[in-house]
Amino acid sequence: MSGGLSVRKLKKIYSTNGVDLTVVSDVDLDVAPGEFFTMLGPSGCGKTTTLRMIAGLETVSEGSVVIAGKDATRTPARLRNIGMVFQSYALFPHLSIYENVAYGLRVRRLPENEIGRKVDECLDLLALTPLAQRLPGQLSGGQQQRVSIARALVYRPPVLLLDEPLANLDAKLRVQMRDEIHRVQRSLGIMVLYVTHDQEEAMAVSDRIAIFDRGRVAQIGAPEEIYDRPGSLFVADFIGKANFLPVCNDGAGTGQCLLHCGTALHPGRVVPLAPHERDTLPGGADGLLMVRPERLAPSDDGPLRGHVERVQHLGSLSRSFVSVEGVDNEVIVDLPRNAQRLLKEGENCRLGFRSADITLFGGAV
Ligand SMILES: Nc1ncnc2c1ncn2[C@@H]1O[C@H](COP(=O)(O)OP(=O)(O)OP(=O)(O)O)[C@@H](O)[C@H]1O
Ligand SMILES: [Mg+2]
Repeated sequence: MSGGLSVRKLKKIYSTNGVDLTVVSDVDLDVAPGEFFTMLGPSGCGKTTTLRMIAGLETVSEGSVVIAGKDATRTPARLRNIGMVFQSYALFPHLSIYENVAYGLRVRRLPENEIGRKVDECLDLLALTPLAQRLPGQLSGGQQQRVSIARALVYRPPVLLLDEPLANLDAKLRVQMRDEIHRVQRSLGIMVLYVTHDQEEAMAVSDRIAIFDRGRVAQIGAPEEIYDRPGSLFVADFIGKANFLPVCNDGAGTGQCLLHCGTALHPGRVVPLAPHERDTLPGGADGLLMVRPERLAPSDDGPLRGHVERVQHLGSLSRSFVSVEGVDNEVIVDLPRNAQRLLKEGENCRLGFRSADITLFGGAV
């Protein structure tokens, strides 16, 4: 892809004490110019390692990194024209904010008036102009992180890599800053490769997300695609809240499934289980039905019979925990607070869902 970033069959093997450990393997990514692309996954799944190989800060064991049509697999980091922001701000404590942002341009010996123009522009973009003469120690965490973003952007790199840039900030500031990063990305039309293990953050800002699972890409897609049509049990469980109901094949070869409580349902899309996920199936079950909490609702003839154990009022929604016949874990039901019919603690209920709103996982289903 010209102008974009392509990663092919990327692999990283670390050798420690003579033992080889593969931490990233077979990673294929294509990021388009102007795209906000996020790598999301649990701790230790290889996000940072992948990002560092793309940046040139880590050697590639196998595979290739192509930036704007050029093979950059062996190109030194400083020649890749990539901006990078880390979790730790790593600002120079003795330099003013202005000088922190100007530093890289001075090293590159740009003329003073050009430095001034570029730094001013960047400070303005990140709303840092009033703080330009302060030292980093006189800034809040969020402001310091804005400085580190300004410092990465001042070269106007075509690609900006951010590794958990908001991890050190409190919850409210994280939301503010992620919107800020999104705004800056959109206004510059820059390509961003973002790493986080916070799925809400990823869903909020990304054009597309790659879900990582133990060094491999489990699924790539737009946020809503991944949420609505998870390609594996791992992805379904990792993104958003999910209810899993054991189902079994009716054995008649009709493709019809039975919920464990005996109700028949016609499966929509069946996703085969990955081999490592088969172990997570409860004994004897053929598969699992996944339905999101907001896709369940009280229904007089719904297939699930249950008892409402607890109800939580969470701002705009009411979250109920329902024990359902044939299901080990409590089923979560999210209803809008102003729904015509809400669930009440202690009542018996029936729950229904549309067949378009479920995903079935199972080898034999
Ligand atoms: N220098 C190294 N030598 C050996 N193993 C390493 C090295 N660096 C990372 N690893 C291992 O590689 C795996 C992936 O690490 P990585 O830092 O890429 O994970 P991550 O997805 O960024 O996790 P986190 O969300 O915690 O930052 C981990 O199991 C880690 O222990
Ligand atoms: Mg990391």
